[in-house]
Amino acid sequence: MTDAKLRVLIPAEKIRTRIQELGEQISRDYPTGNLHLIGILKGAVVFMSDLARAMKRDVFIDFMGISSYGKGKSSSGEVRVTKDLDISLEGADVLIIEDIVDSGITLNYLMHVIDQRRPRSIRIAALLDKPERRLRPVHVNYVGFEIPDEFVVGYGLDFAERYRNLDSICVLEDAEVPAR
Ligand code: IMP
Ligand code: MG
Repeated sequence: MTDAKLRVLIPAEKIRTRIQELGEQISRDYPTGNLHLIGILKGAVVFMSDLARAMKRDVFIDFMGISSYGKGKSSSGEVRVTKDLDISLEGADVLIIEDIVDSGITLNYLMHVIDQRRPRSIRIAALLDKPERRLRPVHVNYVGFEIPDEFVVGYGLDFAERYRNLDSICVLEDAEVPAR
């Protein structure tokens, strides 16, 4: 693969400031109770580790692996769990942590899966939201940034498993982005 051109959409400093704000807001919204952060592998890992440290309270950390069938990753409509949680959610406040909400198919499915584990509450925090692309309804409680319909990488987000460790969010230009 030849190296694609990257254009910075959200610089590292802006991401840092916004995650601090979100961490403080979430801490205020959950003054008591067991708060479980559930990171969706792998894209949410970078956001989750910064968000968890921006919180002023104790949290549980767990992960879930999800895969979508078909090539068009965000539009195939079929989702399955590839790695399940380690910790029980019964009676807990759950905050699902995602890198980006695109069609909404992943989170719409995940809300049902998590709901069956009988938590006390479920909310969603996503670093990025592309509202124009929504196919299934999802209420995202905490959004880092709304972005236009462009394929982005960095800060956990990948293109063919690359670019996850970029410290800014970049638009991938001149590349054949996944089928959408
Ligand atoms: P959804 O089910 O269509 O909402 O898809 C969400 C998942 O698609 C995210 O967790 C990402 O893995 C992937 N995705 C959607 N848009 C992008 C993008 O612009 N860059 C990288 N991955 C993306
Ligand atoms: Mg993902």
